[in-house]
Amino acid sequence: MERKSQNIVPWRMSIAPMMDWTDRHCRYLHRQLSRRTLLYTEMVTAPALVRGGALHLLDHHPDEHPVALQLGGSDPVELAQAARIGEQAGYDEINLNVGCPSDRVQSGAFGAVLMKQPALVADCVAAMRAATKVEVTVKCRIGVDDQDPEEVLPEFLSRMVGAGIERVSIHARKAWLEGLSPKENRDIPPLDHDLVLRMKGLFPNLHISINGGITSLDQAREFLDRGLDGVMIGRAAYHSPADILCAADPLIYGTGEETTPEAAVRAMLPYIEAHLAGGGKLNQVTRHMMGLFAGRPGARQWRRMLSEGAHVPGAGPELVDAAMDQVTALAVPADAV
Ligand SMILES: Cc1cc2nc3c(=O)[nH]c(=O)nc-3n(C[C@H](O)[C@H](O)[C@H](O)COP(=O)(O)O)c2cc1C
Repeated sequence: MERKSQNIVPWRMSIAPMMDWTDRHCRYLHRQLSRRTLLYTEMVTAPALVRGGALHLLDHHPDEHPVALQLGGSDPVELAQAARIGEQAGYDEINLNVGCPSDRVQSGAFGAVLMKQPALVADCVAAMRAATKVEVTVKCRIGVDDQDPEEVLPEFLSRMVGAGIERVSIHARKAWLEGLSPKENRDIPPLDHDLVLRMKGLFPNLHISINGGITSLDQAREFLDRGLDGVMIGRAAYHSPADILCAADPLIYGTGEETTPEAAVRAMLPYIEAHLAGGGKLNQVTRHMMGLFAGRPGARQWRRMLSEGAHVPGAGPELVDAAMDQVTALAVPADAV
């Protein structure tokens, strides 16, 4: 199979990898809202796959495509093996995490700390590319600790390009590896979107997606209009999936119809039924659906019904249906009834 060129596959928008959040149920929900947007898994560590044999971490639904597997690791041989396992599992892209600052990840010498070892990252991605036919990409920060992003980011990116990488996502803030929690590291180091924009000037042939603090489709379009190739959205897409994803296909890709959260809920009902039939629990799916009606009349009632009812033994799709009836009833203007 030929490697996908950036011209053929313009991944203009993606939903960021988020541990505990972008699991398969979340991704299935997001896919009901946008057919085009690229979805990322939570990070899966290479040792978990290669040494731990935890292949269940790769489970996903055939409808999730296009879907990228994010790997964590820093051993080229192990990452190459993990990438091959990911490819065999059917993922469309394998992404290397060079941005996650959590303690657990640091202790394994991977994630954001690798911004300090661009040569090692280059070895890792070269080994991953050699082992697979699917595209290998990188998600990074603009630097860590006392690094000067103006210096280290171009140096890092040119190493990636040298190793054959054609597509990166850049979280436009540094990670401070000591003293900040992972959560604080997503808010406290200041965003520098301009630096990422300037990287596009330096690396015109590299597909660059900007990430960090993007909270609306309008803002996403602005970055695309300013020359970036893609936008990656994390928290806003999780908390208000309809706002980010319903109009993404027509507005970002210029194709397809706008979707609605109601249609997504209806599409989730058979999925939920199948999940329960396989021994799963309702709230494993509905926890990702809480924000579907965010900002709309009935959002509170929707959340309350799901959070109070979804963990009760025996609860099923009828609870979700009933919760949506409440939203629909409240959405009707008072003078129309
Ligand atoms: C709950 C949570 C978990 C995250 N887990 C990962 C992860 O596994 N891998 C990764 O590269 N980034 C992870 N991130 C960072 C996001 O991918 C993204 O870079 C960050 O949230 C900034 O984008 P945003 O401002 O659009 O949310 C996580 C973020 C959140 C909120």
